[in-house]
Amino acid sequence: MPILNSVYRHREAGHVLTDVAAYREAGGFDALHTALGDMEPDDLLYVFHRSGLRGRGGAGFPMGRKASFLPKDAKLAKYVVCNADESEPGTFKDREIIQMNPFQLIEGIVLAGYAIGAERGYIYIRGEYEFQARILQAAIAAARDAGFLGTDIARSGFTFDITLYRGAGAYICGEETGLLESLEGKRGQPRLKPPFPAVAGLYSSPTLINNVETLSALPPIVTRGADWYAALGPEKSPGSKIFSVSGHVTRPGNYEIILGQTTLRELIFEHAGGVRDGRRVKAIWVGGSSVPVLGEQHLDTPLDYESLNAVGTFLGSGGCIVMDDSGCIVRSTLRLASFYKHESCGKCTPCREGTTWMERILQRIVDGEGRMEDLQLLESIFGRISGKVLCALAEGAVAPISSAIKLFREDFVAAIEQGGALRPEPMWPEAPAEAR
Ligand SMILES: Cc1cc2nc3c(=O)[nH]c(=O)nc-3n(C[C@H](O)[C@H](O)[C@H](O)COP(=O)(O)O)c2cc1C
Ligand code: SF4
Repeated sequence: MPILNSVYRHREAGHVLTDVAAYREAGGFDALHTALGDMEPDDLLYVFHRSGLRGRGGAGFPMGRKASFLPKDAKLAKYVVCNADESEPGTFKDREIIQMNPFQLIEGIVLAGYAIGAERGYIYIRGEYEFQARILQAAIAAARDAGFLGTDIARSGFTFDITLYRGAGAYICGEETGLLESLEGKRGQPRLKPPFPAVAGLYSSPTLINNVETLSALPPIVTRGADWYAALGPEKSPGSKIFSVSGHVTRPGNYEIILGQTTLRELIFEHAGGVRDGRRVKAIWVGGSSVPVLGEQHLDTPLDYESLNAVGTFLGSGGCIVMDDSGCIVRSTLRLASFYKHESCGKCTPCREGTTWMERILQRIVDGEGRMEDLQLLESIFGRISGKVLCALAEGAVAPISSAIKLFREDFVAAIEQGGALRPEPMWPEAPAEAR
């Protein structure tokens, strides 16, 4: 049986588990046989809970706890929704899981469905992932042909099937309730919570929504046991996590590590080959772009939820973006502000207006028209957004900007005093005019 998410071990061995026979040979669907043959749904829920697995989509909420919030009423229709929107900048791990090992994800979704008493699962995949959608569609059909989806799975009497749904390319459709709206065929805008999806989700029915990486971790947890998983890594951050490393590194890619056992320095320098041309690290967005930025002084931080919180940031999605000292933090921060302004769904005034103003102010600082008061003005905007909006997009917009101004204040002051951003090279290229 593949351990953890297995993708990397199998890639090294030259295996791609995209056909059902190869997956079964590697121990695939053993977990499903065990669960359906020997376990009651509640036993399975308890295994998820005891493993300590936390959601890998961004918020890190314990998976088993979330699954246990769904009502037990057998008469209610319930759903499992797999979030494969993967829209967080710098994050590309779900794409590779789907490409290399789609059956482990399918098996994880069926296990989750059995545990909560659902008969239907959906995979919501971002529109741009056309190739991955085709792989998934073929894998779902193959799993159905092999008797692992459909009626009476593995002659257990359990019925469950999966529908693939392609999004149309909006960051906000990765937010769980925006995703559910979109899946229902409506405009993808977040809902007011509570009620949470566990109580009223898809079509107002109880819904378990989890990320691709979270659901893919379930088969090895069932096969090898909750205690095995819980013993990997620190008590509150057990298990493995895939970090997508990008930016100014020599070997960008996905790296799976055991939480708490690898530092940020090891991830960047040993796994991802270090920064280009032996330059120094300037800035790191370790959990995707929506988290507070770190600097070189944070390189020895262990990669786990608590250690990253202790230095003021979040593990998030594990999209680790690295910028070396040739990059411009002022321009890069503006680039992020433009992204969030563009992706704000516009439902809440503080987010819609606040992201617009943050972009405008940063733009004038970059253009050499900034004033020293602009830094206070930005701080006052942060205060008007935080805690006053419907979803975490807006908090995610504030975090990289407020932290950059705190950590690299001298760069912003220099840009204001010296008539504009000093370094010509932005971390990310300018967006095309039509996307602004
Ligand atoms: C703006 C925004 C975008 C998000 N995008 C994604 C995404 O692309 N994929 C994902 O799994 N979670 C994303 N999330 C988090 C989801 O709302 C949700 O927490 C997650 O799907 C739950 O799964 P997990 O518990 O397995 O992490 C996003 C959240 C926000 C606020
Ligand atoms: S915070 Fe922003 S993205 Fe989220 S619902 Fe409100 S306007 Fe939309």
